[in-house]
Amino acid sequence: MHLSSEMIEAINEQISYEASSSNAYIAIGSWCERTGYDGSSAFFYEQAKEETTHMLKFIHYLNNAGSEAIIPAIDKPIGNFESLEAAFRFGLESEQKVSKTIYDLVDLSSKQKDYSTYSFLQWFVTEQTEEEILFQTILQKFDLIGRDKLAVYQIDQSLSAIRSQVVSKQQLLGQQ
Ligand SMILES: [Fe+2]
Ligand SMILES: [Fe+2]
Repeated sequence: MHLSSEMIEAINEQISYEASSSNAYIAIGSWCERTGYDGSSAFFYEQAKEETTHMLKFIHYLNNAGSEAIIPAIDKPIGNFESLEAAFRFGLESEQKVSKTIYDLVDLSSKQKDYSTYSFLQWFVTEQTEEEILFQTILQKFDLIGRDKLAVYQIDQSLSAIRSQVVSKQQLLGQQ
């Protein structure tokens, strides 16, 4: 397997996006924790762990292909949010950006006939679909249940159930 220098650079950029996502989710989890949103705090800390796993997958891929994974410096993430809904909206928007960068990598691998990277990336395409559905499903709850204190409390308390529902629905669809 030989990766082009353009591909190595693009994957290293993706490593920095995954690292930034992980850091951003830790910052949201921390905001939730000090605001009293315990369910959301656990949710975002868990998301952060997933982003670290994504970063490691790319690191292993580059290193095992005889290239060098570069561990990036990361910018200070946003640490305050107007509301719980705003925090989840931020999460959805950052997932949408990451989906776009994954699709760009898929395009590049296809253009370069780099079938190894193309195949490796399919897991991430599926993962991004699940992540976007998860955040959309949570945001929809604000429309369905409401935005007053009690509604937001109920949403916060039901996050782990929402995550399990989305994940098992994706598994039923054969997406995982
Ligand atoms: Fe990710
Ligand atoms: Fe993600």
